[in-house]
Amino acid sequence: MTEYNLCVIQGDGVGHEVIPCAVEVLQRVLPNLNLIPAEAGWACFERTGNALPEETINRISACGAALFGAVSSPSTKVAGYRSPIVQMRQRFDLYANLRPTRGLETGVARTGGFQKGVSTQPAPVDLIIVRENTQGLYSGRETMRGDEAIAERVITRAASERIARVAFELASHRAHQHVTIVHKANILPITDGTFRDAVRGVAASYPDVQVDELLVDTAAMHLASQPQRFDVVVTTNLFGDILSDVASVWGGGMGVAPALNKGTQVAIAEPVHGSAPDIAGQGIANPAGAILSAALLLRYHWGLAGEAERVEQAVYGAIDAGYRTKDLGGSFTTRQVADAIMERC
Ligand code: NAI
Ligand code: MG
Repeated sequence: MTEYNLCVIQGDGVGHEVIPCAVEVLQRVLPNLNLIPAEAGWACFERTGNALPEETINRISACGAALFGAVSSPSTKVAGYRSPIVQMRQRFDLYANLRPTRGLETGVARTGGFQKGVSTQPAPVDLIIVRENTQGLYSGRETMRGDEAIAERVITRAASERIARVAFELASHRAHQHVTIVHKANILPITDGTFRDAVRGVAASYPDVQVDELLVDTAAMHLASQPQRFDVVVTTNLFGDILSDVASVWGGGMGVAPALNKGTQVAIAEPVHGSAPDIAGQGIANPAGAILSAALLLRYHWGLAGEAERVEQAVYGAIDAGYRTKDLGGSFTTRQVADAIMERC
């Protein structure tokens, strides 16, 4: 039997509550899973002076796969502190951030799910945002020049082509086979022009996949009003970050949204949400985002689509059956929802 190794980094805040649930679910579907714990985050920085110890890097490398909760990052500059997730993305060249949203049958999701003149039934929301994960405004090049605060937005043709290939490969295996390129090339003709042209070039190798383009502001409006028009969305780093939060609303919001950071060697799954200090320690965080992130690791890193589907069905089955935490309008605890998911997978 194949053995699977997973580095487990709970991080800060609700990471300590949701990651153990996701680990339990993974152990259920993968009996041959070896778990290697590691540390990162704000508490780790306060204790050791390093938010991402070298030992953690080594353990992630050794495993090739990690499950990461969230960290608390200060919003003002703290000497010596850098967000560990951004560091990990650069260190392991995790150039693709996959952020799917599947429509949840909540009141919110229903209201926007109707397309006039197309059908009397709401089309389900089933989209995936493919976010370039190493460049753009996350290049870390920020400076002060006199009174000017400057951030450099780095885009290369090579990085744009490789994220485009991820998007088109994904689309070519999906039912709708459609990619939307999202950019702002009208205002940023050099950086986003480079991105758009690179993606168009890759598109030419996928004649079966339909392609369209949207400016990022229009894309945000469509994501909020008619999310079912999207299948695969490919975009630059910050746009992908923001748009995936917009899209997440259709899937039940922050507590449900999953993500996978993927490179050629290493993949790190992490829920989209942060450390949620407002609810941390109360046992009411939604474990769905962390568990669905673990499912992305199964599907896109280990190639275990059947197991991934099993986990996803269990999560959506539990939510449909009414096992909902407060963020989804319920009153169940993290533990109760996790138990309901475990029973179903
Ligand atoms: P957040 O995602 O932690 O919280 C936003 C809202 O969503 C809050 O109302 C929170 O209660 C809710 N929420 C988040 N996760 C939830 C869950 N599992 N179940 C139910 N509700 C949930 O974002 P916020 O408040 O902007 O940031 C808090 C801290 O997290 C900051 O220090 C920030 O830097 C950090 N952060 C870390 C991220 C990461 O490690 N990848 C990503 C985003 C924020
Ligand atoms: Mg974000």
